[in-house]
Amino acid sequence: MGHPLLLQQAKPVTAFNTPELHALLEDMRDTMAHLDGAGLAAPQIGVSLQVVIFGLTHNPRYPDAEEVPATVLINPVLTALGQEQEEGWEGCLSVPGFRGMVPRYCRLRYQGYDAMGNFLDRTVSGFHARVVQHECDHLIGVLYPMRIRDFSRFGFSDVLFPDQGGSVGKDD
Ligand code: NI
Repeated sequence: MGHPLLLQQAKPVTAFNTPELHALLEDMRDTMAHLDGAGLAAPQIGVSLQVVIFGLTHNPRYPDAEEVPATVLINPVLTALGQEQEEGWEGCLSVPGFRGMVPRYCRLRYQGYDAMGNFLDRTVSGFHARVVQHECDHLIGVLYPMRIRDFSRFGFSDVLFPDQGGSVGKDD
């Protein structure tokens, strides 16, 4: 947080299934796995391109988290379905050590492309919808603290959730 690249509009990807794109995705997967995150956007590792990855398999550390399929999403277009929003805890690998309560649209359609250029079109809700909104915000220069409405619910993970080792929510 504080790096100008995280506040920029990322550029669209223009060529799919290239060695450069696959190398970027490998780098992103390694970073996300190493930091045990649920998602990552290319600007978070210094590349201002419209590329995000996300996914969450069942993890004993987060027994209540809904599973999200491992996904590569490039040049995404998000459409909120309805105006209903819900609040939920979020963290971010670019804002280490913190959690905040963030409003997100409950239902969402997202479209984009995978690494090979195949079109992707999904309608999702709940945690899946939240992760996609968080990651795609990184592509328009928005970090989750900029979405917080109630700053009494923003703080250090280990202070907010001392009983869970500060591990409520997931870093995206
Ligand atoms: Ni993030």
